[in-house]
Amino acid sequence: MGGTTEHAGNFVPVDERLVSFFVSLKKEKGRNFMSNIVQQDILLQLQQLQKDAQTALAQANTTEATREWYSEYLSRKGRLTGILRNLGSLSAEERPLIGKVANEVKAVLENALQERQTAIAQAELEAVRRAESVDITLPGRPQNLGKLHITTRALRDIYAIFTAMGFQIYDSPEVETDEYNFQLLNIPPGHPARDMWDTFYTTTPGLILRTHTSPGQIHAMREYTPEPIRVILPGKCYRYEAVDASHEFMFYQVEGLAVGKHITFSDLKGVLINFANQMYGEGRKARFRKSYFPFTEPSVEMDIDCVLCGGKGCPVCKFSGWLEMLGAGMVHPRVLQNGGYDPTEFSGFAFGMGPDRIALQKYGIDDIRYFFTNDARLFERV
Ligand code: FA5
Repeated sequence: MGGTTEHAGNFVPVDERLVSFFVSLKKEKGRNFMSNIVQQDILLQLQQLQKDAQTALAQANTTEATREWYSEYLSRKGRLTGILRNLGSLSAEERPLIGKVANEVKAVLENALQERQTAIAQAELEAVRRAESVDITLPGRPQNLGKLHITTRALRDIYAIFTAMGFQIYDSPEVETDEYNFQLLNIPPGHPARDMWDTFYTTTPGLILRTHTSPGQIHAMREYTPEPIRVILPGKCYRYEAVDASHEFMFYQVEGLAVGKHITFSDLKGVLINFANQMYGEGRKARFRKSYFPFTEPSVEMDIDCVLCGGKGCPVCKFSGWLEMLGAGMVHPRVLQNGGYDPTEFSGFAFGMGPDRIALQKYGIDDIRYFFTNDARLFERV
């Protein structure tokens, strides 16, 4: 800074260029004094603009802010162009100096802008790099592997055991007629057994959701008669149930059916004891209790010694030491007949088990309702 000069009643600092410019003006004769004042004013404005712009640029911290800065100071509608519009009021000799100074100011500001933009770009890049950096030395996050549902596992175990004994898997419908679900199984309308097996009804009269897999026996027999049969029939069943820890309104069953000549109750016992040993481990104790099903005669229920307490008694076996496993019996002659087999020539056995209950027992789970709550902690037990 070289000194001060009077401008519009104020003393403002100017640089040496301005002082020397005035000295040169005074030496010239016949010059228009008003033009000199305008020239001086423009130079001061340029000087002020440079200062303002530099201060503002130092505060611009983003690329967007530098764009706005450019628009304000250097663009065609910016302040520098605005100042240079007054060049018209200067004489031809005065213009080059102002032009020169203006170009210098512009060059200084453009350089400063470029430097600032480079610095900002680097800082922005660094910030992104830091935010997105991957530490390749960190151990990977463990992936949670999915697991099969417990009932699915029980079903697959059941399939493996029975197919190894020569049983085929037979698919039968979940939506059944009253005739198949009840009547052909020796449960005519009004039969008291219907009370145990109330179900969901469709809007089509006589068409219901099956209450058990037993109607599949009729489908299989009608398809295979007069050939011998050895099938299991897995699938979902539905009941109008008071849902509790061991009763769902939708649950699985696996039905078993063998039909042929000379099939006896011993065959049924042998197959089921073999199944229990394979499903729960060798040396299981089993017992058969007399029971009643309209479609088998005689009918039994099979229990095994409690897998959790080994028969000593615990809450799961209700301190009896036994767990109910399934219902079974010899196929009722009338049912054989309904399936197309002559009961004087053929005999057969059938059983029906609940894989959800089997899974509960096997894995020591105390409530069947967990099976449909989608809580993955259930599967940590298996
Ligand atoms: C029957 O359904 C007979 N059809 C079984 C049968 C087949 C007997 C062939 C003789 C010959 P039951 O209603 O007891 O029987 O059901 C059989 C099994 O299904 C039960 O032991 C149980 O494991 C399972 N079960 C029955 N109701 C439910 C329910 N609401 N929730 C979960 N499992 C059930």
